Amino acid sequence: MIQRTLAIIKPDAVERRLTGRIIERIEAAGFQIRAMRRVHLSKGEAEGFYEVHRSRPFFGSLTQFMSSGPAVVLVLEADQAITKWRALMGATDPAEAEAGTLRKEFAQSIERNATHGSDAPETAAYEIGYFFAGVDLA
Ligand code: CMP
Repeated sequence: MIQRTLAIIKPDAVERRLTGRIIERIEAAGFQIRAMRRVHLSKGEAEGFYEVHRSRPFFGSLTQFMSSGPAVVLVLEADQAITKWRALMGATDPAEAEAGTLRKEFAQSIERNATHGSDAPETAAYEIGYFFAGVDLA
């Protein structure tokens, strides 16, 4: 089933000029990039994006980090895109990420973990809609 997911190249990776290398890996894995742009989120915009994590202890630090510099947001399309992108990223905590995954290679910590991906179809719909209008995806 062809599916779409939202990917973010987070501020830690953009600052370290890893955007090109990550995009190369995305395309080599067989994803089509359906939309892409660079964003510098405000704290409030980061809070809105991570609303489901509001009660978590790391929410303040996470939203501070996500608004600390520019990020790149992308809509990726592939068969089973949600699972496929999560597999390419690896575990949230780079200490647990498998060899060959983006987070194993590029993440610095559980928070500064280089990339984000939607975790379910409903989340993907919310997250894609947070950054892109339907006309961007036609
Ligand atoms: P992400 O996949 O974007 O989803 C939530 C983010 O919260 C996660 O990646 C990490 O950047 C961050 N985070 C910080 N601490 C934790 C934690 N203990 N567990 C999960 N996510 C965390």
